[in-house]
Amino acid sequence: MKLLLYPTFFLSTFVAKASALDFTIFNGQIFTPGFAILDAPQPGTPLGGDTIEVALDVTANGKLQLPPYGDDSPSRINNITIFLYSYDTGRNFTITNGTASTNDVSLGDIMQSESGSTVKHVKWTWPVCLIGDGKPDSADSDRGAYNISIRQNFRLNGEDHYTIFDVPISVTNKIEFTGGNPPCDSVNNPLLTPEEIDAESANTVGVLFAPGDATVIQQSGTADDDDDDGIGPSKPEANPGNGLGSGASAIGSISASYWIYLSSIVCLFFL
Ligand SMILES: *[C@@H]1O[C@H](CO)[C@@H](O)[C@H](O)[C@H]1NC(C)=O
Ligand SMILES: *[C@@H]1O[C@H](CO)[C@@H](O)[C@H](O)[C@H]1NC(C)=O
Ligand SMILES: *[C@@H]1O[C@H](CO)[C@@H](O)[C@H](O)[C@H]1NC(C)=O
Ligand SMILES: *[C@@H]1O[C@H](CO)[C@@H](O)[C@H](O)[C@H]1NC(C)=O
Repeated sequence: MKLLLYPTFFLSTFVAKASALDFTIFNGQIFTPGFAILDAPQPGTPLGGDTIEVALDVTANGKLQLPPYGDDSPSRINNITIFLYSYDTGRNFTITNGTASTNDVSLGDIMQSESGSTVKHVKWTWPVCLIGDGKPDSADSDRGAYNISIRQNFRLNGEDHYTIFDVPISVTNKIEFTGGNPPCDSVNNPLLTPEEIDAESANTVGVLFAPGDATVIQQSGTADDDDDDGIGPSKPEANPGNGLGSGASAIGSISASYWIYLSSIVCLFFL
């Protein structure tokens, strides 16, 4: 245990200095400032195909109950919204803002999707202006570098948080017209500056639930609650199948510019 403490402290120092491109990744899972754990895509992945797919474990690997939550539960996810934005192209698309729009051009509440599943596979049809193949071919192309921005509105042990977790990806693989592609302007939002967003202040809670995190979740029961201690299963159930297949190879495929924290990050809560 003593041996573990030093590297933990050492890495925590790095985390404190972390730039936006530092991620806490373990077994292919990316830990966030919130209950959600990103199974896929991995940061830096080139994406394309018919849909963009985001796989999120919304239970912190089984530690938080699935909804419905008890009304007065000290811990719960209120909602998760996801945007796809780029300062390079000036676009800020709604993947989901909690309310499904006509023809699912933006998606409804992901917490209500795939009932009973701890992993939500968010699949959103690419908007028309991202159709193409390869890198952007002109200065006014909307293809190229984007962030998937995962916004979590949640309560942890009686405290409310709204956190912002951005995952860089590139829209450079082939995207074809499928018939259901939303018009870009119908799902576009104004782009705010980093100062207006102030992710640093939003994320003071820090990255949660990575291996070694001692946070104990207080939660009060729902009707079908059989595990009220809040500690949850000791072994996360994550496997590559949960993560659209990227889990197994993730460690090998992450670019060297991303830190991989195999050690733990300690988060202390003074209640
Ligand atoms: C998310 O939950 C918070 C707290 O209940 C609420 O104020 C906010 O309007 C919700 N946002 C969405 C998009 O549902
Ligand atoms: C992605 O987000 C980071 C901050 O989280 C930002 O510095 C970067 O410019 C963003 N990338 C794009 C293409 O907008
Ligand atoms: C959700 O996004 C859609 C599409 O951008 C928009 O029409 C709708 O007004 C948004 N709803 C909320 C609650 O922001
Ligand atoms: C994108 O739009 C949403 C909804 O208006 C907003 O909450 C978010 O901060 C915007 N993101 C950026 C990078 O401007």
